[in-house]
Amino acid sequence: MIKIEHVDKKFHTKGGIVHALKDVSLNIEAGDIYGVIGYSGAGKSTLIRMVNLLEQPDQGHVYINGKDIVNLKDKELNVIRKDIGMVFQQFNLLDSQTVYQNMALPLILLKKDKTFIEERVNELLSFVELSDKKDVYVSQLSGGQKQRIGIARALATHPKILLCDEATSALDPQTTESILLLLKKINQELGVTILLITHEMNVIKKICNKVAVMKSGEIVEQGLTLDVFSHPHQEMTKRFVATVINDTIPSSLVEELDTTYPILKLTFLGENTKEDIISEINQQFDIKTSILFASVNEIKDEILGILTIQIKGEEAQINKAIDYMKDNHVEIERVVLNHD
Ligand SMILES: Nc1ncnc2c1ncn2[C@@H]1O[C@H](COP(=O)(O)OP(=O)(O)OP(=O)(O)O)[C@@H](O)[C@H]1O
Ligand SMILES: [Mg+2]
Repeated sequence: MIKIEHVDKKFHTKGGIVHALKDVSLNIEAGDIYGVIGYSGAGKSTLIRMVNLLEQPDQGHVYINGKDIVNLKDKELNVIRKDIGMVFQQFNLLDSQTVYQNMALPLILLKKDKTFIEERVNELLSFVELSDKKDVYVSQLSGGQKQRIGIARALATHPKILLCDEATSALDPQTTESILLLLKKINQELGVTILLITHEMNVIKKICNKVAVMKSGEIVEQGLTLDVFSHPHQEMTKRFVATVINDTIPSSLVEELDTTYPILKLTFLGENTKEDIISEINQQFDIKTSILFASVNEIKDEILGILTIQIKGEEAQINKAIDYMKDNHVEIERVVLNHD
């Protein structure tokens, strides 16, 4: 649906050349909620602005439904842009106008008649549950309400793609939650493909089925959200994952550990969540297992369980227990403790 191929972008500034995008490729399929995460300055906004060509690449291609939009003439580009809505961190609404006037604007620009506009605005306001705010000035809305209106306005022309540039970054956690639910509803009920950028892993964890991690203009890791969360490869990805998934053994327990016995981190994915595996190995082998840490995490509607245990007993028995767990599709990683 959206294919970004080998896109490169440099900005020439007074302070020198900024290499904002370095050979970036990304494939977003219809129905995805695709999240791009990275720290400030990573190039996220530059990347998302390539998709509707608010920013032109120096090199590379951007395909929308198979059509390369780089070098398209304005007229053709405008046709494509009608299919792409955009939502911003700072809402980009006209504060001194009413909700209705703000939402009518994209439709007036398309020369739609008054009845059509009125109907469409009512429909959208009902979708974002703000019908009662129709004649209120935007300046009188809360941040969350403003973003709902920003999103509703972006949907005015029935776009098939929605681009969200830090749509929740100006909002508190609870309001963020409700906006994320709204984006999910747009994806599921209207079939809109969403590309969103964020610096919060929580946003990715809640709604994205796929994720790409950006660092200094490059995509350093990408994949299905559950895969990336359960098996992060890059240091930066590990740091992002650690902001939402805790797997550290409490320090009070670490102090008392007899480290001659192995400490193991078990990972359970989705259907494989087997709570009784510990009692099974305790029964079948001559070992004693203690649980040092346990967590159950919901990642884009799927479960990732983490269990850190220590097994005490003879080496042969311990190894048999480990093999038994592996045979039962439990992923096992040895934990090395840092004593510093
Ligand atoms: N129009 C521009 N002119 C010059 N430099 C720019 C321009 N737009 C972006 N940059 C630079 O390109 C780099 C990437 O910027 P970008 O806005 O894409 O980052 P970002 O990941 O969106 O950051 P943030 O999380 O702060 O929004 C930065 O170093 C930025 O200063
Ligand atoms: Mg940005």
